[in-house]
Amino acid sequence: METKISEITAEQTHDLRHRVMWPDQPISFAILPEDANGVHFGLWKNEVLISIVSVFLNEKEAQFRKFATETTEQGHGYGSQLLHHMIDFTKSKGVQLLWCNARSEKAYFYEKFGFKTTDETYTKKGIDFVKMQMSL
Ligand SMILES: CC(C)(COP(=O)(O)OP(=O)(O)OC[C@H]1O[C@@H](n2cnc3c(N)ncnc32)[C@H](O)[C@@H]1OP(=O)(O)O)[C@@H](O)C(=O)NCCC(=O)NCCS
Repeated sequence: METKISEITAEQTHDLRHRVMWPDQPISFAILPEDANGVHFGLWKNEVLISIVSVFLNEKEAQFRKFATETTEQGHGYGSQLLHHMIDFTKSKGVQLLWCNARSEKAYFYEKFGFKTTDETYTKKGIDFVKMQMSL
């Protein structure tokens, strides 16, 4: 089994985003207007794209979004590998604050990487979100 992480195009993220995050919605749900301004990373297992994350840099801050692992490949550490890679990338770009809007039920997962919850929360489509951030 061979894995590698590389930068990918926004278009390469759309199929996995769609299938993992919004299988019941049209593909347009998987496309962000900001995609052209993002840096997109993918983890490949035996040449198949199985985990993705997108990061949007704004001077000294960056937000990561649309983190997803192929359903059948979750829980094997691939997402964690990709997150570490993305964090190292943002550090190398001089980013000082990395943040995301996390599903509240997933906050404990991001805490393992050093992210801290903030008091900014909201609910969208019945799902609770919390802004999490980390100083780099
Ligand atoms: C969130 C998501 C991207 C994580 O990807 P993943 O590849 O499953 O991540 P990992 O395998 O690294 O970690 C998942 C769990 O497996 C555990 N794990 C890590 N390495 C492992 C390994 N080698 N073997 C077994 N389990 C492992 C992790 O500790 C983690 O456990 P936890 O949930 O109790 O914290 C994935 O669950 C997903 O796509 N979810 C649906 C979309 C979504 O919710 N996106 C994020 C919105 S905030």
